[in-house]
Formats: sequence, C-alpha cells, structure tokens
Amino acid sequence: MARTLITSALPYINGIKHLGNLVGSMLPADVHARFKRLRGDEVLFICATDEHGTPAELAAQKEGKSVADYCREMYEVQKDIYTRFDLSFDWFGRSSSQQNHDLTQHFYHQLDQNVLLEEVTTRQVYAIDDARFLPDRYVEGECPHCHYENARGDQCENCTRVLDPTDLINPRSAVSGSTNVEVRESKHLFLRQSQMVDKLRSWIESNDNWSHLVRSIAFKWLDEGLKDRAITRDLSWGIPVAYQGTPRPGFENKVFYVWFDAPIEYIAATAEWAEHNDEDWERWWRTNSGAGDVEYVQFMGKDNVPFHTVGFPVTQFGANEDWKVVDMIKGLNWMNYYGGKFSTSQKRGIFMDQALDILPSDYWRWYLMSNAPEGSDASFTWETLQSAINKDLADVLGNLVNRVVKFCGSRFDGKIPTGGTYGDTENETTRALQEKFESYTANMEAMEYRKATSDLRAMWVIGNEYLQRAEPWKIFKEDAEAAGASIRYALNLIAFFSNVSAPFIPRSAQAIADLFTEQTLTTQWPDTVESMTDALIPDGIVATPDVLFTKIEDEQVEEWKTQFGGA
Ligand code: MF3
Ligand code: ZN
Repeated sequence: MARTLITSALPYINGIKHLGNLVGSMLPADVHARFKRLRGDEVLFICATDEHGTPAELAAQKEGKSVADYCREMYEVQKDIYTRFDLSFDWFGRSSSQQNHDLTQHFYHQLDQNVLLEEVTTRQVYAIDDARFLPDRYVEGECPHCHYENARGDQCENCTRVLDPTDLINPRSAVSGSTNVEVRESKHLFLRQSQMVDKLRSWIESNDNWSHLVRSIAFKWLDEGLKDRAITRDLSWGIPVAYQGTPRPGFENKVFYVWFDAPIEYIAATAEWAEHNDEDWERWWRTNSGAGDVEYVQFMGKDNVPFHTVGFPVTQFGANEDWKVVDMIKGLNWMNYYGGKFSTSQKRGIFMDQALDILPSDYWRWYLMSNAPEGSDASFTWETLQSAINKDLADVLGNLVNRVVKFCGSRFDGKIPTGGTYGDTENETTRALQEKFESYTANMEAMEYRKATSDLRAMWVIGNEYLQRAEPWKIFKEDAEAAGASIRYALNLIAFFSNVSAPFIPRSAQAIADLFTEQTLTTQWPDTVESMTDALIPDGIVATPDVLFTKIEDEQVEEWKTQFGGA
C-alpha cells in the first residue's frame, strides 16, 4: 500500500487565522489527504500550532496572560475551528510539546557534533527599562530602506525587506514603547548553512517536479549566497538551549529561534500522534525504519518556502542521520482581500471563526479551492464567493440532486427504479464523464486545484445536461421503464459525484451519500465512471434531501460588505 505523509505549515498561535492562511496551506493539504485516502493510500496528515517566538509572547502580553496560558487556550480555540472546517488532521499537535523539546535538542546535539554550529558574539538591541533584549519583533522603528515608521525588527511590512533589529532608525521596545535602548553584545549559536550549499543545490536540482514558484524561491536564496544564521535568541519562552543536564556556558537564558524548532514539530507531532495511538513515528520519518517508501508532501504559502527548501533541510541533512526529507512541496501564493493582504496584526479580512458564523464550511472550502492562489496571487471578493456558491454548488450540483431525487420520490415511490436498460444517451454521457474524470484525477494527483475543481464542476454540468437530454419527466407517461432507467442512471451519477467531490465538500458529499439510506457507498476512488453507473442496489430507498445548498442573495452580499469593510 502506498504511504503518504502530509504536513501543512504550522499556524502561528497568535490568534485565529484568516482565510488567506487557510487556503495557503491547511485546506489544500486537507484536500490532498482526503483524496489520497480515497485512493487507498495509508495517509498520515499532521499539523500543529507554532507556539514559540515573539508573536506568541506579544499576543499573550496584549491579553494580559502568561504565554503558557495564552498558548494553551488559543490552541483549543484554533483546534476547534479546524474541526469545524472539517480539516481531517490525524494529529494536531503543539510545537511546545515535550516531544518537540526532545527532538529539537536531538537535532541541536547532532549539528553540534557535526561541527555545524558556531558560537558568535552578536550585537543585539537591549531595552534598559524593560531589562531585556529585544529580538525580532520585540523592537520597532523606522525602516532604513523605505522609512516606514512601524517596521519590525525582523522585517519591514511596508517594503517586505528582511531586517536586523539593529538596522532600525529610532528603535523602540514593542513591549513598553521605551526608546531607552542600547546595543549590547550577546553570544548566539549560528548554523553554518554556508557549508551545505552544494548539497542543497543538488538536492533541489534533483526535485525537478517542484513548481517554478518553489524552485525559483529556493534557488534565489542559494544564488544570493546562503549566510549562516542564528538559531538562538535571548528570550525566556521557547525551547531552552541548556537542557536536561547538558548545559552550555553562556546560553543559560537563551532559547532556540522559533524557525529552528517549528519544522522539527512536524516530526514531533508525529511522535505525539504515535504515543497516543500506539503507533511508530519512525516508520514515517526515518528511512532505516521504513520511511524510505513514504511520499512526503508539504503545503505552505510562498513566504514559508525558504524555510522548507533551505532551513529545515539544513537541519535534517546536517544531522547526518537517516531523516526522511520532503518529496513534494506545494507552495501557494497569496489570497488578497480587496487589493491589500489579509492581515492578522491589522485585523483585515475575514477570520475563520467569522467565516463559519455566516456560511457552512463546504461553501468556503469550495470557493477557496476553486479560486486557490496557485499560478499567481488571487483576490477575494464577495461577488466571486456568491457566484461559486450560487452557480456551481446550488445551480449545478444541488439542482441535479434535487431534481432527480424529487422525481424519484414522486414517480417511483422513492425507490431506485429497477427496469429498463441504458442506451446511447447514457453511454455517451459516461464517455464524456470518463474524459473529465481522468483529467480530474490527474489534476488531483498533481495538486492543481483550480484545474481539478473546474474538471469536477464540468462533470456536474455533464450530469445536468444528461437530464436535459434524457428528459425522464417527459417520457415517463409513454414509457415508465425507460424513465426509470434514466433515473437509475442519474441516481448512480449522483452517488458517483458524492464520492469524488468529497475532498472539497466533505459534508455535502456525506449528505448526498446519506440519501441512499440502505447502502454503503464505496469510499474508494473509482477506476472508471462506467464502474459506477450501476453500482447502487436497485429498489433501494432514496430519501428526500434537505436543501443542499442555499443561494446567496445580493442584499446579503451588500450586508457582508458593510460588516467586513475593505470592499
Ligand atoms: N508559523 C509559520 C507561519 O505561519 C509557519 C511555520 S511552518 C514550520 O508562517 F515549518 F515551521 F512549521
Ligand atoms: Zn521598509
């Protein structure tokens, strides 16, 4: 049995995520996991909250909570929302777990042993009034490049340049606002990435099936010369460097940098899962323990690509053990909200909890995936959302199901008709569907979701066109058997659509499957459409559906525009 390991970039703990985060990694990863399960693969789908670093500390402070409490609560909040979006993680862990402390320490010791770490004395911003160092986002000030006033120590949000805290003009503490700061020396561990450029380059070159987006970002980093990077910080929240009887003089008050330990949590979350399920995590992560035949796929937004094509692989290769590295990276662009970016810190856009307050999860899943930011950035608009729901889900799929099932109810007592045989119209429809289905399957394998959703929609349309051609309600009076065969065919199409639509709209797919109360529909991806056209047991009961999809009215759109702003 083929085995697929899937990870989604880990959402930061610092608040409820917006739809841009969802479509950028977790949702496409879920679609892939669902697809691969239907294909019969053994799938392990892993995600977790990313809990360390300055964003977590700052968010906790804003809410007047200890970081540990804040993370514990926000973990539950996020987990609940992902469940309500039907994200089918096999495990949703926390990067602050004991397992991650242990594994991060393990990698640190391996890298140290392999002479890939170096102690370097650096210059850090120190806040005298706060009596602490101000790494990364803890310091704010004027960008030296574009002179934006509120640039953060790690990056300027305005011109997107990566910064060092000491670059900022008029630096101030993000904690207290104090400008009473000075530069002090502090020792840090640097990972000697520069030693590994050749290894990385040949590895990335060997992955010629990665998208242009992913490869070009990776090569850009290598071409610009890979600098050694600090993997420790002067913070108290995080995974301590000094640990369990192995101190490191001068590093007593330091922790690992969040981008060092976060990807290791992919492995650690698997260990969390294994512990709770009496499973073996090494089977998924160590090539000498069976992970050699795992296909490992990562999903992430484009800003995360450097950390997964360079940062994490350096950790894994540098350990010089038998770690399973990624086989396929699906990198996505941004989904923008009316020209600007969705932004957690600026609270712009639609957040996942708000989204579920106004529409069911499947509506969002379908809309987001059929408008996924794949080839380029995409723009959220209320009109395209309305159109995806009304035109695709309600008018095409919902309409087909309603018409067929209602007619079956009124003319055939709600039982799958037994008589009659399929003719040319059915055979032609099956052939047309087969062509789309092959393309759909190929696009799902390739994780090309705009193309895949358009194939799927095209199949639903073919189903509707079939009804238009066969017109069972017209022929019923002269030839009830022929009408019955036609309804039986259409019901089988509906069951087939439920099966293959499930990766995108799992709840609606289940609701459709539930119409066939007496039969268990296959949960395998079909080989051919043909094999599905007479799969339902004749005479079986067909229940009347509740409304599958409700259309969105123009007035509603106007209301949301006012409520959410930005439009
Ligand atoms: N929290 C990061 C973000 O939202 C992603 C971390 S991915 C991991 O951009 F690899 F570090 F886990
Ligand atoms: Zn700038």
